[in-house]
Amino acid sequence: MNDRLTRALRSEPTDRRPVWLMRQAGRYLPEYRELRARHRFEELCADPELAADVTLMPIERFPLDGAIIFADLMSPVSALGIDVRFDPGPVLDTPLDDPARIRALPEPERGAIAPEVPAALRIVRERLAGRAALLGFAGAPWSIAAYLVQGRGRSGFPALRTLAAREPELTEELLAKLSRMSARFLLDQIDAGADAVQIFDTWAGLLPLATWERLVKPHIVSLLETVGSAGVPRIYFAQDAPHLLPGIADLPTEAFSFDWRVDLAAMRRTLPEGRAIQGNIDPAILSAGPEATKAATRQLLARMPALGHVVNLGHGIMPEAPIASVEALVRAVHDEGAES
Ligand code: CP3
Repeated sequence: MNDRLTRALRSEPTDRRPVWLMRQAGRYLPEYRELRARHRFEELCADPELAADVTLMPIERFPLDGAIIFADLMSPVSALGIDVRFDPGPVLDTPLDDPARIRALPEPERGAIAPEVPAALRIVRERLAGRAALLGFAGAPWSIAAYLVQGRGRSGFPALRTLAAREPELTEELLAKLSRMSARFLLDQIDAGADAVQIFDTWAGLLPLATWERLVKPHIVSLLETVGSAGVPRIYFAQDAPHLLPGIADLPTEAFSFDWRVDLAAMRRTLPEGRAIQGNIDPAILSAGPEATKAATRQLLARMPALGHVVNLGHGIMPEAPIASVEALVRAVHDEGAES
């Protein structure tokens, strides 16, 4: 039973640092591209057997310590009666910016939120047989709202920021509903066997600190607190949000994941003891080849104390990432363990 990742997330000592990669099941893998040539992305997500196959692809190839379930940030929103297509990112036919529609959003119960995801977790759990920890995930309310309100990915998500300014109470109602949905979805995933959960807040950094603390933070806190009752370690990932760090530091979570812009060693000195830190090699470095990747990994290991550190990228792996670079990264982490 490989419990390196769950131990490190609880800031307990391990024989070496655990390593996994955000978006590790994806287009940089030839076997994923081969399967994807025969199925649309939506089909892969909707079929628990196929989603389980994809989840395990990186585990069969690399000795990783975590397997993250294959799904999308937007998988749960069909439970809200909203259709999302992928081109390649999420696209809605009609952005959700109408107050009446926001107020009328349903509140799906447990069991009714992307049930294919817990179904896939059950299959993976069986097939993983303890080789790696199984990770569930959900979107943070603000990052799901970004796509819902804007209708698609757009730099800065101005439609969401406009809604937050024009209708702060309605924005809070939307965030509260999404927070409850993500909490229920994560509890379903934990029941299905997730050993840890990650909350992706990819677009956390769009607001200034004071507005974020007032409007957004309470809904992250309630999500984390509800999920915390299940007793598995939680990881909160904030992307491109260094200005929010003073407000993020006291969130009720076992672990934080930061993007490559953040100085992890400085964060280690700032965050209270007993909070694990995950990250944060720049995904673009992998495209510079295995030598550059190995050097960046070694540099991170040298700067960052091992206790409570989970090695990962600072954001999702890019489709261009060479397999040899992933191998070099994982090997550098394993080699440090072998030396000590
Ligand atoms: O980590 C994993 O391996 C699990 C799979 C996973 C996917 N999406 C599969 C995916 C996870 C954890 C996500 C989360 C996700 N989705 C986030 C948060 C994490 C992050 O990267 O910031 C976000 C913002 C999305 C939204 C999304 N989905 C975008 C912007 C895109 C297109 C661009 C891209 O990176 O591919 C997607 C599509 C998507 N989600 C793909 C995959 C493998 C590519 C689909 C394809 O095969 O064409």
